[in-house]
Amino acid sequence: MLQFAIIALQIIPSITVIIPAYNAEKYIQTSVQSVTNQSLQNKEIIVVNDGSTDSTKSALRKLQITYPNLIVYNLEQNKGPLFARQYGVQKSRGEYVLQLDADDSLRHQNVLQDLLAYTIQKPDILHFQHQAVKYFPNNSTQEISWWGNAQVESANSSNMLNMLVHAKIHWLIHGKLIKRTIFAQAIEQINDTRHLIYGDDEVLCVAVFSIAQSYNGVPYIGYNFNQRQDSVTGQRNQSIQTLLKVIIDYFSTRDLVQKFLPPDLFDIRNRITKDYEVNLQNLAKLKDNSIVNVCAMYKIRGIDTQSLCNDIK
Ligand SMILES: *[C@@H]1O[C@H](CO)[C@@H](O)[C@H](O)[C@H]1NC(C)=O
Ligand SMILES: *[C@@H]1O[C@H](CO)[C@@H](O)[C@H](O)[C@H]1NC(C)=O
Ligand SMILES: *[C@@H]1O[C@H](CO)[C@@H](O)[C@H](O)[C@H]1NC(C)=O
Ligand SMILES: *[C@@H]1O[C@H](CO)[C@@H](O)[C@H](O)[C@H]1NC(C)=O
Ligand SMILES: *[C@@H]1O[C@H](CO)[C@@H](O)[C@H](O)[C@H]1NC(C)=O
Ligand SMILES: *[C@@H]1O[C@H](CO)[C@@H](O)[C@H](O)[C@H]1NC(C)=O
Repeated sequence: MLQFAIIALQIIPSITVIIPAYNAEKYIQTSVQSVTNQSLQNKEIIVVNDGSTDSTKSALRKLQITYPNLIVYNLEQNKGPLFARQYGVQKSRGEYVLQLDADDSLRHQNVLQDLLAYTIQKPDILHFQHQAVKYFPNNSTQEISWWGNAQVESANSSNMLNMLVHAKIHWLIHGKLIKRTIFAQAIEQINDTRHLIYGDDEVLCVAVFSIAQSYNGVPYIGYNFNQRQDSVTGQRNQSIQTLLKVIIDYFSTRDLVQKFLPPDLFDIRNRITKDYEVNLQNLAKLKDNSIVNVCAMYKIRGIDTQSLCNDIK
């Protein structure tokens, strides 16, 4: 028995699933169980509780009683998904890493086992598919069509960054098995832990894709991307605070991805997102004084605001 235990400790997990969780008391059990339920035995599950102020911590403690292998890190302060995802990667041991959001889930019990079968050639990135699932307030669900669903292409090291920037490969971090060694290198080079809510995906994907040498996209649907009314990504709350956060994150993301993109791709990335920037400006102008606030906040943060703030001078 003891010998078995020692051997088991030395085995490298095939896949580490990392779940960053912020105020996820309603969903954490489902997301965690969608992983603990997996038929793949040789896995690791890490939850990074990102300074939740609800009962996420105690929910996780309860889950650890049922699932002793569940690894939980409780961060004292809320640091945002960019930090929490990086923290999880630093703690992970698996050959591959999969990021799962606390309000999402794996579709069925064999997802990890099935994915492993696609990694025989050991691609640095194995990209599989999402299904967006809409949750109604009465808890009934409906699978819906969504831009992230089916953008899986075959790409190689010479064109994958280009395809990512052109959104031919979507830049969500979900639905991608990434070699831990590649992810760890990317994180070392990002070397930044700012509090992004919108944009952490793009930063991580661009960094990983700029380092990875091989990519395999497979038409396998394994990830339920849940569109909930009250989740950070699901909500369409145009409060001033939300708007400011979107805009600040937009510029922070631009700063952070710049060092991973050759100038021509960075230029394309900015041309593509120009529309987004214009939309944000228009939105901001709808709100009393908010554009002025945005510019003041940029100044405080030392972010270049030329294009956004010129027209209010
Ligand atoms: C996990 O498995 C248990 C027992 O088979 C089942 O009751 C539960 O609904 C499953 N949960 C998820 C999220 O798959
Ligand atoms: C929906 O599910 C949540 C979480 O399981 C539960 O707390 C809530 O009461 C449910 N709502 C309805 C209307 O059934
Ligand atoms: C839940 O709500 C949706 C949207 O309002 C509705 O289409 C569906 O029929 C409802 N389901 C149940 C079981 O009440
Ligand atoms: C990479 O893929 C592109 C598009 O399919 C192809 O044109 C190119 O020759 C490939 N490069 C290598 C090194 O395989
Ligand atoms: C990481 O950032 C710190 C502070 O911004 C800087 O001093 C350090 O040189 C950076 N490290 C690398 C590897 O870029
Ligand atoms: C929108 O955000 C504001 C402030 O963050 C909050 O008070 C309000 O309840 C939110 N509204 C909705 C519909 O979520």
